[in-house]
Amino acid sequence: MNNLFKKLPGLLVAAFVVALTFASLPVSADSNAAGNPEAGSKIFKQYCAVCHSTGTNKIVGPGLEGVTSRVPQPAAEWMHKWIKNNAALLKTDTYAQKIFADNGKVSMTVFDGTLTDAQIDDVIAFLANPPKEEETASTSAAQGATAATPANNEDEGTHTTIILLIVIGTLLILSLVLRSVRKTLQGAVNKLKGVAAPADRTLWQDTKHWIATHKVATACINLFLVALFLVYGWEYLWGIDVTPGYHPSQPINFSHQVHAGTNSIACIYCHSGAEKGKVAGIPTLNVCMNCHKGIQGSNPEYKKEISKIYYAVGWDASKGAYSNPTHPVEWNRVHSLPDFAYFNHSQHVVVGKLQCQKCHGAVETFTTDQQFAPLTMGWCIDCHRQTPVHMDSNGYYAKLHQALMTKYPGKTITEADMGGLECGKCHY
Ligand code: HEC
Ligand code: HEC
Ligand code: HEC
Ligand code: HEC
Ligand code: HEC
Ligand code: HEC
Repeated sequence: MNNLFKKLPGLLVAAFVVALTFASLPVSADSNAAGNPEAGSKIFKQYCAVCHSTGTNKIVGPGLEGVTSRVPQPAAEWMHKWIKNNAALLKTDTYAQKIFADNGKVSMTVFDGTLTDAQIDDVIAFLANPPKEEETASTSAAQGATAATPANNEDEGTHTTIILLIVIGTLLILSLVLRSVRKTLQGAVNKLKGVAAPADRTLWQDTKHWIATHKVATACINLFLVALFLVYGWEYLWGIDVTPGYHPSQPINFSHQVHAGTNSIACIYCHSGAEKGKVAGIPTLNVCMNCHKGIQGSNPEYKKEISKIYYAVGWDASKGAYSNPTHPVEWNRVHSLPDFAYFNHSQHVVVGKLQCQKCHGAVETFTTDQQFAPLTMGWCIDCHRQTPVHMDSNGYYAKLHQALMTKYPGKTITEADMGGLECGKCHY
């Protein structure tokens, strides 16, 4: 028993590692021999979710729950023909003619040439075996991991924290129980041997004794606690409203991590203004509805937030129509320069070829939007002093670039050399 107690730290660490491993194991879906349902899930979101849900509700086309068992069999063969070219199949196939009539004679997209046979196999595998509502959360977390972005889905984060707390709690209780077992046994042994029982030590004395005899283990535990404190402290500090880091609460809890990270949607898809002119722009809810007609959210939290979009645009998901009253959403602005300063996105993004992340940080990892750079005059000027200008960019600036290269042969030209420090460039 004494031995067991000595080995306890080792056991604790081992149990901890085992628990962590289990907590981080991905939940693997039943894979279908013909296609890859996970790849299929992505294709579905990209090409099909605009018109179909994976449930029973109709969007433009029917809900596809259980579709592989209702279409003519063998399902894979029929679905291949249908997805590739439903128009062709409609000429001969009676089932196709029936669903066409049932759905108000709305044509589905022809995917011949857009999707390969292998991709269609993937979608069919996904539809044959769609993840259950709650499971999709782990699927999208797994997708995050493959997309090589920090996969710290907020849900997964809390999930892991809860598991950690349970593990730590269990271990504490376990060690207390073992302690009392040891005491009882030791007492029994002492009685048998006829040795006088040593003075009963309190838990605190025991702990002190343990610390004195286990220096390395104590140091490790202390380090762990300090690290934990630092990590949580850091996260807490980020939560305080400082500028940069300013992040007002938004009417819809929109996460860039879910969109630009896990689902790899390009920034420009939503902020199309950044390539066209001064303002990057916040997308209208119509842009959101391109996807969210079909994507209703894989967990209750997502569902709740996404239903706010429906409320705002007056979408009735059960009818698949914009039949309710609308309630426009007002996003709170995060970045704002004073009116006397002029900043133009396309000048930086298109001509300067700068990544959004250079000024906005790793937005694809943000769960709430926040200001990253200080946006002070010093910040603008520092970068203009340091950043070499792309001399190969053509169009408007080509002539100017040419003149500069002749003026400073062999030198790296920065924005400052081009007049990027002149007051008038940034101030009206
Ligand atoms: C533009 C809207 C639209 C898109 C995009 C679309 N569909 Fe359809 N789909 C329909 C409509 C509408 C029907 C019902 C038949 C009809 O009216 O042509 C349908 C029917 C179907 C059916 C038969 C449903 C049943 O109840 O038997 C399947 C299977 C199907 N679609 C799969 C897909 C897949 C897979 C994709 C993506 C690769 C896709 N669809 C993309 C509109 C669409
Ligand atoms: C699916 C659409 C979508 C995508 C993709 C997207 N954004 Fe956004 N973005 C939004 C919405 C909606 C807001 C306003 C709500 C908010 O601030 O969270 C926003 C806000 C912002 C803001 C703050 C605007 C302000 O108020 O000052 C910045 C900066 C930003 N996005 C940058 C990016 C970058 C960089 C990317 C690519 C890595 C990106 N966004 C991808 C929809 C999107
Ligand atoms: C190109 C497709 C696409 C567009 C456009 C899009 N979304 Fe999403 N959105 C998704 C996907 C995929 C998910 C993840 C769904 C899931 O895992 O259940 C999602 C999830 C969400 C969620 C729940 C997760 C979260 O971010 O908190 C909200 C809220 C949301 N979207 C709002 C918006 C808003 C607002 C817009 C428009 C500014 C928008 N979406 C545009 C594809 C899109
Ligand atoms: C050189 C730095 C820089 C780069 C690169 C940059 N931005 Fe910005 N962005 C800013 C500044 C500065 C503001 C504040 C502008 C203002 O208040 O007038 C801003 C504001 C925004 C806003 C909110 C206000 C608006 O203009 O609609 C969005 C959204 C945004 N940026 C998205 C993007 C996206 C997406 C990209 C990449 C395609 C990008 N930005 C690249 C510096 C930058
Ligand atoms: C990350 C680096 C960076 C930051 C930060 C930055 N700029 Fe720039 N800026 C550039 C580059 C690079 C160019 C040159 C584009 C080109 O011509 O190739 C440029 C060009 C300009 C121009 C055009 C100058 C001309 O010669 O016509 C203006 C105006 C400007 N920036 C304003 C600003 C303002 C205002 C800010 C701060 C709010 C800012 N910039 C922040 C890199 C930056
Ligand atoms: C690259 C762009 C850029 C150039 C060049 C530039 N400024 Fe600014 N300036 C800014 C921005 C952006 C702000 C707003 C900073 C803020 O809100 O903190 C600003 C703020 C100011 C302010 C207000 C100070 C304050 O703290 O609010 C003054 C005064 C000013 N600039 C003067 C000048 C003068 C004089 C020059 C020429 C020597 C100049 N600026 C050149 C971008 C520039």
